[in-house]
Amino acid sequence: MAISDEYIQRLLSYVDIESVVSPYVNLRRRGRVLTGLCPFHNEKTPSFTVYPETNSFYCFGCGAAGSTINFVQKIENLDYVEAIKALSQRAGLQMPEDGYDDSLSKRRMRMLSINREAAKFFNSVLSEPRGEKVLQYFLGRGLTHKTITHFGLGCAPDSWDDLKKHLNSLGFSNEELYAANLVSRSERNGKVSYFDRFRNRAMTPIIDLRGNVVAFGGRVLDDSKPKYINTSDTLVYKKGRDIFALNFAKNTGSSQLILTEGYMDAIALHQYGFTNAVAGLGTALTREQAQLLSRYADEIALAYDADEAGIKAKNRAIDILSSTGLKIRVLNLTGGKDPDEILRKYGRERFQSLLDGASNDIEYKLLAQREKFDLSTSNGKLEFLREAVKLLADLDGAIERDIYISKLSSELNVSRDAIQTQVNELRSKKNRYKERERVKALKRESSGEGDRLNPARNVNLRAAKAEERLITILLNSPEFYEKIEQNIKPEDFVTDFNRHIFTVIYNRLSEQKSVELSLLSGELSDDEMSRATKLFLQGRGTAFSLPECNDCIGVIKQEKVNKTDIKPSELSDEDYLKLFKKGNI
Ligand code: UTP
Ligand code: MN
Repeated sequence: MAISDEYIQRLLSYVDIESVVSPYVNLRRRGRVLTGLCPFHNEKTPSFTVYPETNSFYCFGCGAAGSTINFVQKIENLDYVEAIKALSQRAGLQMPEDGYDDSLSKRRMRMLSINREAAKFFNSVLSEPRGEKVLQYFLGRGLTHKTITHFGLGCAPDSWDDLKKHLNSLGFSNEELYAANLVSRSERNGKVSYFDRFRNRAMTPIIDLRGNVVAFGGRVLDDSKPKYINTSDTLVYKKGRDIFALNFAKNTGSSQLILTEGYMDAIALHQYGFTNAVAGLGTALTREQAQLLSRYADEIALAYDADEAGIKAKNRAIDILSSTGLKIRVLNLTGGKDPDEILRKYGRERFQSLLDGASNDIEYKLLAQREKFDLSTSNGKLEFLREAVKLLADLDGAIERDIYISKLSSELNVSRDAIQTQVNELRSKKNRYKERERVKALKRESSGEGDRLNPARNVNLRAAKAEERLITILLNSPEFYEKIEQNIKPEDFVTDFNRHIFTVIYNRLSEQKSVELSLLSGELSDDEMSRATKLFLQGRGTAFSLPECNDCIGVIKQEKVNKTDIKPSELSDEDYLKLFKKGNI
């Protein structure tokens, strides 16, 4: 935690925030700031703003904010020390070895080595007699030795503790293996024992973008259940965050990625030369995964299974991907249930032609609707048109809308103008609705209602605003600290969220340390940093006065008393005494 201020200041003088952010965000200069599309939420107009002068960023859309260090943490999923390490490497600086507590970071590093050793173990078992069955399974599925090695596939032997013993012999404790989700724990008659979680399974390591083994998936060799066992969330793995094979696919230079449901499909695709294939990891596609994909591709070709579950998953994925701004193509898999089967049955060319013939998302959705209705009846036609109009109203491009309206009109033999009118009507209805929602959201925000970061703000609005103003003032003009430190203490704060931010600032100033934003990253949580950054930026360039500080303090103290007045039942004896002294009761 305690990396010295001096080091962080030195580091940030070497790496400017603009060059750290620009690989992820297309930044455009606007005077003293830079703006671009926010990498942390979906948007079409840029509200992500970088302030080079203060090494900070702020998104007016989603509220994400912080210092250069927070940006690296958020975008690369790193903890504080890891982010500083990454930045140090960039700057070619040697990070001071001692003087900081990096136990979390050390535990993660150790878990990654456990995983790496486990992957090596599983893979080596494949060439032993006890791995013969799994090797035959892989070969029987058409995988080559080269593919097996490329993906580091392996065998979990049919034993209760082969892996455990092996990792123990390398110096890893059972508790560590348990934390890594490689062993399970049982307790009988007060005696705890550990045993391998993956037994008699074909193993696939899940590798993150930096080449770390973060998790495993293990498949049974027959039809028994569960078909797959996967690593649950650990210190180094969170379901719904990573994408399988993206570590390879990101290097192909293709602006298109093929997304499959199962990782066996992605592996097969790679073997057949489609090295831009990736897979989700057994959960429905998440927003986080979609964002990740959008950093490496412009277009996603969805090659989900042809069964009912696959179609459902596909529809969900289409919605999530399109709201991330990705172009989408949807493959219509025919002749096999999944890409793996199609490749093995018909070969590479067949899949390539499915890829070439893939429809874009609107075509796919229109097609799916069309199948639901009997177009030979006028009623069926009408119902289909109603659904089609809904889909077309969602298209933002006027030319695109025109093309599909013309198509529909000639296919259904309905006047072009009639369809056009309906689409336009629906669009203006939707726009009015959106505008109303936007205004509502703005009102909510300005009244502080429903503040996600500081839930207590809502019911303590007057106090919270004064607290925030005081934080704004101290971050911009720390010299006021000396004049007010006697009058206000962190305990006086009404809302817990603001109190913690204030405590960090107050303590730093009392130790004559700087409260430069970047130096707070190590002591404030992500959310607290976002708020602190926002407050700091709000006050930039403003001249503050001592009377204003005292006004804030007055309001905070008064509100604190009011608050304690309302709920006497929650007061301790000591609190009662205090109130008596003040003559409040
Ligand atoms: P599928 O059942 O389509 O598996 O599940 P698959 O990839 O085609 O596997 P094979 O070809 O039968 O070997 C798709 C994905 O869902 C997850 C896995 O990640 C799988 O790749 N899954 C499936 C589980 O996590 N658990 C299960 O029990 C089943
Ligand atoms: Mn399959």
